[in-house]
Amino acid sequence: MKFGFFDDDKREYVITTPQTPYPWINYLGTTDFFTIMSNTAGGYSFYKDAGLRRLTRYRYNNVPLDSGGKYFYIKDGDTVWSPGWKPVKTELDHYQCRHGIGYTKIEGVKNNVKAEVLYFVPLEFDGEVQRVTLKNTGNTIKKISLYSFVEWAFYNATDDSTNFQRNFSIGEAEVENGVVYHKTEYRERRNHYSFYGVNQQPDGFDTERDTFIGMYNGFENPQQVMAGTSGNTIAHGWSPVASHRLDVELEPGQEKTFVFVLGYVENEQDKKFAAPGVINKEKALKMLDRFKHPRQVEEELAGLDEYWSGLLDNFSVKSNDPRLDRMVNIWNQYQCMTTYNFSRSASFFESGIGRGMGFRDSNQDLIGVSHMIPEKARQRIIDLASTQLCNGGAYHQYQPLTKKGNKDVGDNFNDDPLWLILSVSNYLKETGDWKILDLEIPFENDDTKKYPLFEHLRRSFYYTVKNRGPHGLPLIGRADWNDCLNLNCFSETPGESFQTTANKKGGVAESVFIAGMFVLYGAEFAEICERMGKKPEAEDAKAHVDAMREAVEKYGWDGEWFLRAYDYFGNKVGTSEDTEGRIFIEPQGFCVMAGIGLDNGKAEKALNSVNKHLATPYGIVLNNPAFTSYRLNLGEITTYPPGYKENAGIFCHNNPWVIIAETKLGNRERAFDYYKRITPAYIEDISEVHKTEPYVYSQMIAGKDAAKPGEAKNSWLTGTAAWNFYAISRYILGIRPEFDGLKIEPCLPPEIKEVKISRRFRGAQYHITIHNKGNKKPACLLNGMETDSLLPPPVKGEVYHVEVTT
Ligand code: BGC
Ligand code: NOJ
Repeated sequence: MKFGFFDDDKREYVITTPQTPYPWINYLGTTDFFTIMSNTAGGYSFYKDAGLRRLTRYRYNNVPLDSGGKYFYIKDGDTVWSPGWKPVKTELDHYQCRHGIGYTKIEGVKNNVKAEVLYFVPLEFDGEVQRVTLKNTGNTIKKISLYSFVEWAFYNATDDSTNFQRNFSIGEAEVENGVVYHKTEYRERRNHYSFYGVNQQPDGFDTERDTFIGMYNGFENPQQVMAGTSGNTIAHGWSPVASHRLDVELEPGQEKTFVFVLGYVENEQDKKFAAPGVINKEKALKMLDRFKHPRQVEEELAGLDEYWSGLLDNFSVKSNDPRLDRMVNIWNQYQCMTTYNFSRSASFFESGIGRGMGFRDSNQDLIGVSHMIPEKARQRIIDLASTQLCNGGAYHQYQPLTKKGNKDVGDNFNDDPLWLILSVSNYLKETGDWKILDLEIPFENDDTKKYPLFEHLRRSFYYTVKNRGPHGLPLIGRADWNDCLNLNCFSETPGESFQTTANKKGGVAESVFIAGMFVLYGAEFAEICERMGKKPEAEDAKAHVDAMREAVEKYGWDGEWFLRAYDYFGNKVGTSEDTEGRIFIEPQGFCVMAGIGLDNGKAEKALNSVNKHLATPYGIVLNNPAFTSYRLNLGEITTYPPGYKENAGIFCHNNPWVIIAETKLGNRERAFDYYKRITPAYIEDISEVHKTEPYVYSQMIAGKDAAKPGEAKNSWLTGTAAWNFYAISRYILGIRPEFDGLKIEPCLPPEIKEVKISRRFRGAQYHITIHNKGNKKPACLLNGMETDSLLPPPVKGEVYHVEVTT
């Protein structure tokens, strides 16, 4: 069953019922100010950091689930309703939500009043704009009241949801000319405030929650709205909110538009106050001024659209499969920008207070965006490398606001440093900007420890070299990519963290997955050395890579597939000798991607084993059989019920590794088949089972051992976005940046007959046509001349026409 449809021309997903199987959300914002918004206007806003600068309040896992947001109420006689259906839930005559690229439009119709609310965050604007258009579609005069509503959060989201003994005494608000200013803690150390205003004098307002809603009412029936009044209250303590009331008269056919702005302002220390206790509102008034007229909204919206076109048009495809086109051109790239912005910090599953920017996550996220935002990717590389430790290891996370490594979580996730090699080599291939390697970047955010980026890569590489176990394979540390494979944490106490309680230090537990990574990215490092003219370094690196490849062949092979690891006691993990968790996906994907076993049949065997044991109609599960009981020596992976998360769930992030691996073997049909199994547009029809948004990837889909196979969770913030874009664009469509230029090596299934691709690369524009005839080797014409599939480096500003028959 479907709950909406794709409108590709507008780059929108159109939701036609408010009762989706789960809240289906969108992200608004491009730089610093962000809003998460559901299809019924639920969600919240924050500035830079959902943990440390939460502007509006949101209660996760509320009942009903998605309660609290940017609500509007319409009081029309005895009827009260909301354009997004929630929170009032009055049955609407018509409902529609259009999630677009950086905006959401919600439309409701009731009793001949049509309300359309457009929400977006304009470019270079620290605020959310809400344009409300009310239209009388009937033939009698309508006298209605429109209410706005937001509930303020006290900035630190953890305190906001826990420290009530303090919170209930500190709330402060001001109202001037109908604009509500939220200034809790501004009197002391904060230099920032929030505001909510509308482009005309309201007929009433409220800032006291208990007066607006009432002690015994809820979002669905605020007492002021029910009565058609406003309390005109100024909050002192308790829970400040902001609501405006506009009394609106509409002639038949008449339409009126109001523009609301929810903004965030920082003032210089000596300019905080206009008068004792009165905040300086200059900047807020300027922001409100920018949206005094609805036409300004139109202009800014057009600007936003242009901005997004500028990003998304860097790569676009036209094929005979609209599902492929809409994923590649619109939603996959859009999701990549979202994961770039938030790593794993804030979604409807990530509470904004749990996890900041992950080192491994953010490095991987860059492979999905470097073609769109090379400059920002460069800055992100600098930010990430700045948190690296002197010994080459890395803080596992950093906080977006401070950009400092998180000491509580610490380091010793032994895959982390190698992901920096991926992000940098990917950046070099995309941009050709080799100067970045000479850029001096601190270790541990300490400016006295500045070294060229190349040195960061070198230490990343040798971190693995120095941390090897008895088989010459990399030590796993607290965990590798699989955060739940905790081989040095023997936790017997409920509530202990599996990642930070690393209580065993045997120097024995090894990861075959990191070994595959090392072979792949170690070789990249060696090539970087070589290209920098560092011959001895290159030779040394190659020798280590060769030794690792041998170690994997010798000690990392189980007979039909690659082993997963050796545990604390030196016993095999992911082996046919075991009864559960006999085979894992990660080393199969990564070792084959690294080219291990391509020449001796191991790669083919490993992928056939994946197909036999791990592939399901909904995607490829992480391991099989699922673990059915807790194993002290394996950790969190065995805590999940069978079929969920890391315990045999379909962890979508590593499906593209297998897809890429299949293309290495030339298995074009299998590669695309796997792609289709997890790609949202292809599974739109099973939305009822899948539950999460049919336009973005989810982190996890319940596996074959689960009670409800196919049910997804953790949509939006997942490495799946970047990796699937990488797989489809570079390995299936086969347009791949290399150090020397663009490589054209498609691996398309027969069902995709002809593809036209437009790709910007190092300042040049490529128009590529692929005729898919099923040939092994592509034949390429560049501007009509025969050429190798590795095209020569482009000249900036040039336009190239490429014709490929494969
Ligand atoms: C989850 C992992 C996640 C980890 C982060 C675990 O509970 O299963 O997916 O990476 O927490 O700490
Ligand atoms: C989610 C985490 O963000 C990521 O870092 C990790 O690799 C996966 N879970 C797998 O455990």
